[in-house]
Amino acid sequence: MKRISLTQYLVEQQRDRGQIPPPLRLLIETVARACKRIAISVNKGELGDVLGSADTENVQGEVQKKLDVIANEVLIEANVWGGHLAAMASEEMDSIHVVPDRYPQGEYLLLFDPLDGSSNIDVNVSIGTIFSVLRKVTNQRGVSEEDFLQPGKQQAAAGYCVYGPQTTLVLTVGDGVVMFTLDRETGSWVLTERQMQIPADTKEFAINMSNQRHWAPPVRRYIDECLAGKTGPREKDFNMRWVASMVADVHRILSRGGVFLYPWDQREPEKPGKLRLMYEANPMAFIVEQAGGVATNGRQRILDLLPTKLHERVSVVLGSKNEVQRVTSYHLDETPPAA
Ligand code: AHG
Repeated sequence: MKRISLTQYLVEQQRDRGQIPPPLRLLIETVARACKRIAISVNKGELGDVLGSADTENVQGEVQKKLDVIANEVLIEANVWGGHLAAMASEEMDSIHVVPDRYPQGEYLLLFDPLDGSSNIDVNVSIGTIFSVLRKVTNQRGVSEEDFLQPGKQQAAAGYCVYGPQTTLVLTVGDGVVMFTLDRETGSWVLTERQMQIPADTKEFAINMSNQRHWAPPVRRYIDECLAGKTGPREKDFNMRWVASMVADVHRILSRGGVFLYPWDQREPEKPGKLRLMYEANPMAFIVEQAGGVATNGRQRILDLLPTKLHERVSVVLGSKNEVQRVTSYHLDETPPAA
C-alpha cells in the first residue's frame, strides 16, 4: 500500500470528495498534533514526572491523574486559537470551555475524553484519547451547553488515539474508518488502514466480569451462554478480553471483531451506566457503525439518543453486528437472531 500522511489523506478527501471542509481539516490535524504531544508525555512516564494522582477531582467525583490534567490542557491549548471551534467540552471539565473573544470563533464543537483508561496509566498499559466533533447548529450569538446536546448521529467526525505498543489514530468523517500509525522517526501520522471493518460474527467478548453479580438478567443470560461454550446454546467456545481502557478494547474489536459491554448494573442503579455518552459512547458508536458494527445501550441505537446533559452516562454494547443484536434482543425480550 502506498503510504501517505494524514495531511495528504485529508487534502485528497477534501479535493476529490468534497468531504472535509477546511475548518474540519484544521480541527482534525490540530487534534492529531495534540495527540502526538500527549503520546510524548505518556511515553516519558516516570522520567517526565507525569505518573500518579493530581490530587484533584473532576465533576464526576473521580480523582484526576496528572496525565488526565496534562492531556486536557494540551487539547485545549492546541485547539483554542485556530478559529475552527466555538467551544470545547471534556470529561475533565465541569462545564464547557468557550473560545475567548480574543480569538475568532468557528462553527465546530469539540468534545473529548483526554485520557481514557486512567487506571492503566501508572501500570504501563494502553490508554488513549477519544474525541467527537459536532457542528453548532443554532445561529444565535454565543455558545452554551445546549448547543452540545445533539444526538450522536449528528457528529461531523469522531476518532480516538491509542497510546500502546504503537501509537495509532483512528478516524471517521462518516465515510468509513481509517487508521494512521505514528512514525516516531519522522513525527508523521502515516495511513496504515484505509477501510477498517468489524466482522459480523465473533467468539470474543469484553466485559468486567467482577460485576457479574450486579448485572441485569439480559446481560447475565448473554454472558452465561457465552461461558457455556461448545456444549451450551451457542455451540461454540468464547474467549474473553478486558483491558479496562475502552480505547484499547474498541481498537481490538475494530481489528479482529468482538463485543464490548459496559452495561447498567445494580452498584449505582440510578445511573444508566458508567461510560459517558457524549465523549465516550457517541464517538465510539459512530466509528463502530462506520466499520460495519452496531452500538446500542441494550435497547436503542446509541447514535439516536438525545442527550439531556453534558456528562450524561449510558449503558454500552458495541462491536460485531450479530452479537450486539443478540444482546439487544435479550433486553427487548425478542427472539435472538439465528446462531
Ligand atoms: P476513565 O475515562 O475514567 O479513564 O474510565 C475508563 C473507562 C473505560 O475506558 C473502561 O472501559 C472502563 O472505564 C473500565 O472500567 P472498570 O474499571 O470498571 O472495569
